[in-house]
Amino acid sequence: MSELANRVAATRDTLERIARDFTPAVFASSLAAEDMVITDLILKNQLPIGIFSLETGRLHKETLAMVDRVKEQYGYDIALFRPQPEAVEAYVSQNGLNAFYDSIDMRKECCRIRKVEPLGRALKDKKAWVTGQRRAQSTTRAELAVQEDDAAHGMVKFNPLADWSEEEVWEYLRSNGVPYNELHDQGYPSIGCEPCTRAIQPGEDVRAGRWWWENPDSKECGLHMVDGKLIRIKKVS
Ligand code: ADX
Ligand code: SF4
Repeated sequence: MSELANRVAATRDTLERIARDFTPAVFASSLAAEDMVITDLILKNQLPIGIFSLETGRLHKETLAMVDRVKEQYGYDIALFRPQPEAVEAYVSQNGLNAFYDSIDMRKECCRIRKVEPLGRALKDKKAWVTGQRRAQSTTRAELAVQEDDAAHGMVKFNPLADWSEEEVWEYLRSNGVPYNELHDQGYPSIGCEPCTRAIQPGEDVRAGRWWWENPDSKECGLHMVDGKLIRIKKVS
């Protein structure tokens, strides 16, 4: 088997194990390339893992369009979790719409309202959640394990693509005809909210366009952190 075929088989095994042993389990999709690999594996194999996306209210139209493209290709409705309108209104009226450029605290508070709180609702009463994180994506992810004990959310967290390379992600998407966010063809390897993501130059780090005004070590949005620390407390494998 080719190296990619081996990785695909191992990832499929992991997803099947999650579906078998950790129901109810959910997959958090940002609708970017890595997450489309997992989406394709879940939906093609009809695995009982629900897929949701955090619709922050600040996503690019190309990212939102992926929800319809998944519906067209797979007949599946991705569940959308949105921030609480009162919390967004209070933040914007007190600080302004784009206050996240002013300080790391302001940025984290916006991520807390628009991503972290809705994530808590999406994970309520689940036994496990799945993400599309890869080790090679950033210094903060170098230690990532496929299976982690997420004590903060009281469940198991799986990163089935932890050891995939960016090339493998693209080889999988292209050879399987999986739809992908068109921003990836416009210099965006990593895609988050529109005001906090920009295109990168050739040779730049893949996450260089995310919160580009901050230090690389602070560039996590809170989805994978608790009290300012990465929640990679206990590795299971
Ligand atoms: S992050 O810093 O925004 O978390 P990244 O965009 O690299 O980083 O996403 C890593 C993983 O976090 C994704 O594979 C996905 O599992 C989850 N994730 C990020 N953004 C979202 C989102 N808007 N909705 C659901 N899951 C998300
Ligand atoms: Fe707010 Fe930017 Fe975080 Fe999106 S990425 S929630 S716009 S600070």
